[in-house]
Amino acid sequence: MKKALVLGAGGFIGGHLVKRLKSEGYWVRGVDLKRHPYSYIPANEFIIGDLRDPKVVELVIDENLDEIYQLAADMGGAGYVFTGEHDADVMHNSAVINLNVAHESVKKKVKKIFYSSSACIYPEYNQLDPDNPKCEESTAYPASPDSEYGWEKLFSERLYLSYKRNYNLDVRIARFHNIFGVDGAWNNGKEKAPAALCRKVAETPNNGTIEVWGDGLQTRSFLYIDECIDGIRKLMNSNFEGPVNIGSEEMISINDFAKMIIKISTKNIQIKNIQGPEGVRGRNSDNNLIFKSLGWKPTQPLSIGVEKTYHWIYQKVKNKEADDLWEYESPNNGSTIYQKKIGSSTYKKMS
Ligand code: NAD
Ligand code: GDD
Repeated sequence: MKKALVLGAGGFIGGHLVKRLKSEGYWVRGVDLKRHPYSYIPANEFIIGDLRDPKVVELVIDENLDEIYQLAADMGGAGYVFTGEHDADVMHNSAVINLNVAHESVKKKVKKIFYSSSACIYPEYNQLDPDNPKCEESTAYPASPDSEYGWEKLFSERLYLSYKRNYNLDVRIARFHNIFGVDGAWNNGKEKAPAALCRKVAETPNNGTIEVWGDGLQTRSFLYIDECIDGIRKLMNSNFEGPVNIGSEEMISINDFAKMIIKISTKNIQIKNIQGPEGVRGRNSDNNLIFKSLGWKPTQPLSIGVEKTYHWIYQKVKNKEADDLWEYESPNNGSTIYQKKIGSSTYKKMS
């Protein structure tokens, strides 16, 4: 039985990856600062630990591992990585994790390691025209990412590649382009546009208005999580090391994307464009290299993943609204905690 270690297993992509590896018959150890908030993943072992601490990394990486998937990072959507407020933490936290992991992987002679880089490494000067962004892998240099998050990713790509050159670390590197889907961040300040816009639409009553950052003409492509996991597994099973894009080529403006979500909701909702953190003006995956190297590229239409994601977030919003109707109250002043529905005499006993 193959043994895999998923770093960042309490996160969005890590959680889905654990499930996939388990379904393929792997023995899986997951590590994260926290448990997964939504998916109760049957990892064989789940260790709560801080990968900035070299002792934790020493503990979780052992000689018996066949594969490591390094997904742990301090990251979020435009509202987290493009405001400038978290730059020092993002650079420090993620770089220290990667320094620890690369070093320990060589020490323990790990057979293969996957590193999750990002489309944010591409130079800003290639992403100024929203209708014609250039994100071919070979255009990464001269480097000029528009965020510190992108610079750290570029540094860590180079870190893993130098461990390959000097110590034969067998590495695979993917540059993810905005991955979305169920079980991802949707309301904690780290959510990306797909989850944020689904949440805004789900929360807004019929004939209401949602706020969308920027003029809405900026473009992106979004890849549904299932195809992202397919791409990771195909890359890992190949002899191609990358760096290679894993993303969708279905580019869309943010306002058109919001309209797609509104249509799925069947509500009548208007869009109000407001100032907000925007990131690059245009971005789209270029899938020539992945198709040439692996004979595979994502093909699922965007609307299919958006439909699933909207309904998942709609349920979350509804459940939260229902929860908000309950307030803690102990009617008999005893030790039992009850919840009382506001404005009614109904009590719900808490377990
Ligand atoms: P995520 O935030 O859901 O998952 C990252 C996980 O890493 C989190 O659960 C977090 O708690 C964990 N982590 C952070 N610091 C840690 C530490 N010190 N010790 C242990 N765990 C720690 O993000 P995700 O969307 O699942 O992304 C996974 C990886 O893919 C990240 O490296 C991210 O930068 C990269 N990526 C993601 C996207 C995307 O669109 N989701 C795009 C480009 C790159
Ligand atoms: N998050 C968010 N929330 N974005 C919004 C919103 C909103 O309510 N309204 C409009 N947007 C716009 C942003 O201004 C940005 O121009 C665009 O939607 C996409 O935003 P995000 O999905 O948050 O981020 P991104 O695509 O710019 O970058 C993300 O993807 C990269 C990989 O492609 C980030 O998660 C990066 O960390 C990641 O590496």
